[in-house]
Amino acid sequence: MGTAEATTDATRTLDPEAAASFLAGVCDQRPVGGYTHNFYRYPARFSPLFARTVISGFSEPGDVIFDPFLGGATSVVEGRIAGRHVLGTDVSSLSPFLARVKGTALGEEDLARVVEWANGLSGCLNLHLPAVRDREWQRAGYQKGVPWPIRKTMEFVLARLVDLATDPQREFARCVLLRVGQWALDCRDRIPRAADFRSQLLDTLTELVAGMREYREAVEAHETRSRVVALQCPAAELPGRPELAELPARPKLVVTSPPYPGVYVLYHRWKVRGRKESPAPFWVAGCHDGMGQSYYCFGDRRHAELSDYFRGIRESFAAVRRVMDPGGLVVQLVAFKEPDWQLPRYLDAMREAGFRETMPADLGLPLGERLWRSVPGRRWFALIQGDLATAKELVLFHRPA
Ligand SMILES: C[S@@+](CC[C@H](N)C(=O)[O-])C[C@H]1O[C@@H](n2cnc3c(N)ncnc32)[C@H](O)[C@@H]1O
Repeated sequence: MGTAEATTDATRTLDPEAAASFLAGVCDQRPVGGYTHNFYRYPARFSPLFARTVISGFSEPGDVIFDPFLGGATSVVEGRIAGRHVLGTDVSSLSPFLARVKGTALGEEDLARVVEWANGLSGCLNLHLPAVRDREWQRAGYQKGVPWPIRKTMEFVLARLVDLATDPQREFARCVLLRVGQWALDCRDRIPRAADFRSQLLDTLTELVAGMREYREAVEAHETRSRVVALQCPAAELPGRPELAELPARPKLVVTSPPYPGVYVLYHRWKVRGRKESPAPFWVAGCHDGMGQSYYCFGDRRHAELSDYFRGIRESFAAVRRVMDPGGLVVQLVAFKEPDWQLPRYLDAMREAGFRETMPADLGLPLGERLWRSVPGRRWFALIQGDLATAKELVLFHRPA
């Protein structure tokens, strides 16, 4: 970034103008979409503007950035449109799926083929036709909680994926269905009629095609093709993975948002009619799950002292420390249900993982204290009980010790 004093070493600071735009971007409360961001509403995703601001503030085109808790792949999209290579890990198999679909710039031929395929579906989506049961996924329970007409329609659509020519086309089509499935089922009291589902499918396709075109143009504006390595694995297991060799350098910037302590987000299920939890997103995306909520949130809600949580943070960031550039920076967004004791424990875990905290002022930001941001309206807020004043997110900065 042209406005920073130094490029890659640990002393890099923002000049006043860059610092002001950094603070405005990081604290911006507008919901931001565009590009491929709304291909799927991944629970507790961070604002693209947050990722964009951190990436442009603390890395350069051609650098490798790393998000160890990749989730819905916001960092992949923002990294690639800024010309950065992106490394990501997540325990959820949905995450690499979303990184591939949202992060692969499909060309016009591919998009035209998917549109033609979708327009040809109408004859196959007649509910009077015999069902096409997908026995393997059905037996494994992935369709649990999906009401009959929607399930049958989804089965019809998935059965026609064979008519597409390539995996990227098929995954793009799966993502359209995923997005419509989420619209129809997740956190809905009334399930839409099959006819509404079918028309939503075509509307969503049009929207996703437009987003993909915008994304492709932004990615192709860079001369060099950036790489994405998105792995389904716990962050702690990243060191030693052979895929690391596919990247041109070590990550200089880590931008991430881990699961929050004591906040149990349903990352891996749709909540149908307010009660039933459905693993259907994995079925639609064609990836396997089989894990419980504690797997995705670093521990069980019954363990109030959160020792599994803090061990998970320590082990994950120790791995981050091993793979990243020793002169790099970690910027993370985290919130605390009970900040009085959870924040010191969190900082201890980071220290034990081999990091030292960097205060905003040391990066050129005009603040005498830590940087907190308030973003009301996000779904995880509802999970924070008690004093809403504590329901703020903290932007933490760390450097390898
Ligand atoms: C707050 S979400 C990240 C959202 C992401 N920033 C986005 O914009 O979509 C936290 C993610 O951490 C993942 N996660 C939980 N434990 C993990 C672990 N041990 N290693 C890697 N990822 C993990 C969860 O599956 C979830 O996707």
